[in-house]
Amino acid sequence: APEQGAAPSLAGRHVLVTSGPTHEPIDPVRYIANRSSGRQGHAIAAALAGLGARVTLVSGPVALPDPAGVTVRHVETAQQMLAACQTALPADAAVFAAAVADWRVAHEAALKLKKKPGGTPPELALVPNPDILAAIAAPGPQRPRLVIGFAAETHEILMHAEGKRQRKNADWIVANDVRPESGIMGGTENQVQLVTAAGVEAWPRLDKDAVAQRLAARIATALAAQAT
Ligand code: CTP
Ligand code: CA
Repeated sequence: APEQGAAPSLAGRHVLVTSGPTHEPIDPVRYIANRSSGRQGHAIAAALAGLGARVTLVSGPVALPDPAGVTVRHVETAQQMLAACQTALPADAAVFAAAVADWRVAHEAALKLKKKPGGTPPELALVPNPDILAAIAAPGPQRPRLVIGFAAETHEILMHAEGKRQRKNADWIVANDVRPESGIMGGTENQVQLVTAAGVEAWPRLDKDAVAQRLAARIATALAAQAT
């Protein structure tokens, strides 16, 4: 197993990573967002850089410093995140750890929405955001050779993870349990199962940095094995 020996170098490889939430504006002072600290995605970017990769990290709004040795593109919305990912291509591998808002407000208000005395609350019409992972993983000349997604689930984890792997044309899905009682969301540890075409691998509960290092080593091994 790669985690037992030294991982191959990623020197000369370019890896794209997304991390953090996206913010979808309602008006100049309000937005819709997902819960995400960005810790796991940022740790993955740092671990890949530690193995020698050139890393482009496309990050939504997070309260974390930019990882050292990584090119960081700061974005706010899902549409901006998709555009930044497309601009970053080509890449040998891509890891989609961001918690992208599935919907955005159809019509962003230019001015702050105001309460009117006795008035009814505004109704927000939502439209779907692009699926960034599915867009980058779609077959084509720009598709990275190894595409990895995440699946944060509260129930039927493996079924949903394998469904996402196939539907989005990802090679691997890192599945984790985000029920509040798991303590994963916002915490420093993660417990994941790696879902690939070959099957499911359960990893022990580890520090998010250790999960990142193990994943980076797996990516390095996979790219080395398919090198031409
Ligand atoms: N993802 C993405 N762009 C989106 C939505 C999701 O790139 N608009 C990526 C995430 O970064 C993650 C994977 O797709 O790697 C799965 O995200 P998730 O939210 O679990 O899947 P969804 O397809 O949005 O399904 P749902 O939220 O209904 O579970
Ligand atoms: Ca989603």
